[in-house]
Amino acid sequence: MNILAIESSCDETAAAVVKDGREILSNIVASQIETHKLYGGVVPEIASRMHIETIEKVVGEALNSAGMSADDIDAVAVTYAPGLIGALLVGVNFAKAFAYANNLPLIPVHHIKGHIAANFLEYSELEPPFLSLVVSGGHTHLIKVTEYDKFRIIGQTRDDAAGEAFDKAARVLSLPYPGGVHIDRLSKNGDIKAVNFPKTHFRDNEFDFSFSGLKTSVINYVHNLQQKNHILSEQERADIAASFSYSVASVLCTHTESAAKKLGCKKIVLAGGVSANSMIRSMMEEMCRKNGFNLYKPPLALCGDNAAMIGAMAYYEYKNGKTSDMSLNARANMSIEI
Ligand code: KG4
Ligand code: ZN
Repeated sequence: MNILAIESSCDETAAAVVKDGREILSNIVASQIETHKLYGGVVPEIASRMHIETIEKVVGEALNSAGMSADDIDAVAVTYAPGLIGALLVGVNFAKAFAYANNLPLIPVHHIKGHIAANFLEYSELEPPFLSLVVSGGHTHLIKVTEYDKFRIIGQTRDDAAGEAFDKAARVLSLPYPGGVHIDRLSKNGDIKAVNFPKTHFRDNEFDFSFSGLKTSVINYVHNLQQKNHILSEQERADIAASFSYSVASVLCTHTESAAKKLGCKKIVLAGGVSANSMIRSMMEEMCRKNGFNLYKPPLALCGDNAAMIGAMAYYEYKNGKTSDMSLNARANMSIEI
């Protein structure tokens, strides 16, 4: 089954053709980062306009590079929630028009489920049940995936997502937006023990996260030094980046480890843009090796937003009868449990 998938929930216009939920036939991503960089973050109105300008071309490229025409496509999938509403609407309306014009089934896909499904494209043997840690710009969730269409939230952030903390820590260190990848690079030369940044744990739900205290702590640390007219050396910046990353990675690892032990889950699946982080990946590897867990991590190219992951998830949604008629609408917020 060939699924044409479309993703436009934030600042990437993406289209892909995926076969049977597991094989990428094409995967095109048009990033708007260079534009949003000028403003230090995503400007929703600009994102929507750029999606409108780009989407037809991106879908055309996805079909071309798969060597296909609309006649070879069996269904159309689209991210319909959660995300920036104006951005989502562009993809949803394009997908509806494509499905209607070509008389194809329409499959709505939840963005976070898509991030998790990115792993199905890399690991042909991977099947639920498993425990997934989803870390992106807007989400930090520990999710028990019991079946392809059954998701239970075990823990989640009570304030900022891990990616938000990475981006703000990067900003205070004068790194460009989005800063996660720059912090990652800088932290490789730093000392994780240089600064003792907070690691938040809760008593009432030991699997919940909080990153706003850590974010404020990094900002205050740098501002304090600046107020004393101290100019940060390259080594000090690297030490701050490494110590900050270590705080995030430690919390993610300890929560995942204890959730996996409590649930008796031996398969750990990473997902989302922040799962590209090298310190998180290596600490997770170490934790999984120590406990005898199997770790699944998306390839770097599938960690961030893309449409191939939407096509992968869509296959299983379709098999479970989850198609939509032309009344499909976009939703800015939606729990993964629905
Ligand atoms: O999943 P994603 O592409 O978009 C959302 O659905 O939010 O995640 C984007 C986030 C940004 O906050 C970005 O800074 C972060 O992922 N990110 C990273 C790395 N690469 C991207 N964070 C830490 N280390 C990285 N290597
Ligand atoms: Zn995403």
